[in-house]
Amino acid sequence: MRRSISIIILTGLIIVLTAALTAALMYINNQPVSNRGINQIFEVPAMEPDSAQWGLNFPNQYSTFLLTKTNQNRTKYGGSFPYSKLEINPRLVILYAGSGYDIDYNEERGHLNSLTDVRSIERINNKTPGTCYSCKSSDNPGLWAKMGMAEFDKTMFSELGKNINNPIGCANCHEASTMRLVVTNPALDEALKSQGKDWRTFTRQEMRTVVCANCHVEYYFAGEGKYLTFPWKNGTRIEDITAYYDNIGFKDWQHAISGAPMIKIQHPEYEMYTADSTHYRAGVSCADCHMPYTREGAAKFSTHDVKSPLLNANLACGACHRDVEYATYRAATIQSQVQMSMNVTEDALIAAIKTIKAASLKPDPDMKVLAEARQLHREAQMRWDFVAAENSMGFHNPEEALRILLSSADLARQAQLKAVQAAGSPAVIWNGSH
Ligand code: HEC
Ligand code: HEC
Ligand code: HEC
Ligand code: HEC
Repeated sequence: MRRSISIIILTGLIIVLTAALTAALMYINNQPVSNRGINQIFEVPAMEPDSAQWGLNFPNQYSTFLLTKTNQNRTKYGGSFPYSKLEINPRLVILYAGSGYDIDYNEERGHLNSLTDVRSIERINNKTPGTCYSCKSSDNPGLWAKMGMAEFDKTMFSELGKNINNPIGCANCHEASTMRLVVTNPALDEALKSQGKDWRTFTRQEMRTVVCANCHVEYYFAGEGKYLTFPWKNGTRIEDITAYYDNIGFKDWQHAISGAPMIKIQHPEYEMYTADSTHYRAGVSCADCHMPYTREGAAKFSTHDVKSPLLNANLACGACHRDVEYATYRAATIQSQVQMSMNVTEDALIAAIKTIKAASLKPDPDMKVLAEARQLHREAQMRWDFVAAENSMGFHNPEEALRILLSSADLARQAQLKAVQAAGSPAVIWNGSH
């Protein structure tokens, strides 16, 4: 009897130990290489803004990162050449009238140009808050830790600039002691929390996408303190974001022609990509396409020359697609389809803007109906801008981009009809009821 009890205890013990060992191994295997720590020759202080210091330990990542400074290649809809979007598409001057984006709006470039480029924007003036530095410098993590984000955002751009000397760098994405990927922007941490999420529990593959959301997202400046906020509380689809802004009655600017209270959407790459796109669903991360593994002699590392994957398709797409030529051909088809749909949407928006203006100049327009027309213009343009300001010309999520554009064009035509109605025109308008 005693013997069989000890056998049962012993067997139990073996089972428990085996399970614990398996769990530990599984845990270790699922950790990023970097969570186990990467051997470093030189010690880099926490949040060190100078990327050259990190580069001493990681020459391959550093030397490829330096290439982001000088890339100049263009692709049909992207690339690194800072051409003026307004010259390419003069309709934008009407669509963004009164926002500042109608004066100066350039195609973006590689990460190392972030500081030079933000300082040369003509929209920047002496009322510009420090918040505008939020996604431009590797000095930020250190400054946020020292002064807190509220104080950072409250400080004027010109004043804060005295403490900012470095463009984007290693400290924006990595923790120095372990080299693991981290959320460095407090606004992202808070936005995830508002949705009940904690990035510290994310897998390595999730971090390879979320780390880009430190910057490649839609945001606004909340309140007098211009506090950097991502409008994600209701979710990250355009409808959730629209509802968020409508609930708090927020506007970025008043449209100079239609008079509508407008939102300027920034660069919602993260939101667009994660809205159930084919690639996201398949578990593909931003880094898979924009930072593919590269070989230099015996070394294999993630290229840090982050740019259009179409300039690097053999590595960027070839890791998964055997027929790279076909994959890029499909990408081109998607982009031209989205571009064509966007043109049609822009025509509808401009028709709405001009009709609202014309109606407002009538002797006695119906102000209530005119306000409804302006609200529809706001909603329509927010949707269009979610696709237009997103930098992949629909590639990140073709179905979502086309869905949103269709809805935008519909809302724009509704806005136009409302304006006609506000003007008291005799035109016969079907109001949607039977
Ligand atoms: C399946 C591959 C793939 C994934 C995943 C992906 N992208 Fe892209 N991305 C592309 C392609 C293709 C383009 C279009 C480039 C062009 O038109 O030259 C692009 C364009 C961009 C651009 C504009 C580049 C330029 O040259 O103007 C940015 C910024 C960007 N992506 C960021 C992201 C972010 C952030 C994520 C994750 C949230 C992401 N991408 C996920 C393939 C990908
Ligand atoms: C600290 C903020 C920040 C982070 C984090 C960040 N980006 Fe960027 N990214 C920017 C800014 C700002 C620009 C535009 C720089 C300019 O035009 O001067 C940019 C530009 C780009 C471009 C365009 C490059 C070109 O040559 O036109 C791509 C592609 C891109 N980022 C992808 C990514 C991906 C993928 C990630 C995540 C692995 C990421 N970014 C993380 C801020 C950031
Ligand atoms: C825009 C964000 C971003 C910046 C800036 C950045 N990295 Fe990375 N880095 C990544 C991502 C994403 C990975 C892939 C991590 C993974 O697979 O777990 C990575 C991986 C690494 C790795 C692990 C090995 C490898 O190549 O995959 C090292 C080492 C590294 N980076 C060094 C650096 C250094 C040095 C700098 C500054 C010169 C830097 N990184 C700047 C995003 C960034
Ligand atoms: C990490 C793996 C991976 C990478 C990298 C990758 N893809 Fe894909 N791609 C997939 C998977 C998985 C699917 C969906 C299932 C399938 O069709 O095999 C897919 C589907 C597609 C589709 C059809 C779906 C759609 O959205 O229309 C196109 C087009 C495509 N990829 C193009 C590209 C291009 C272009 C690149 C490089 C810029 C690229 N992919 C990079 C894995 C990848």
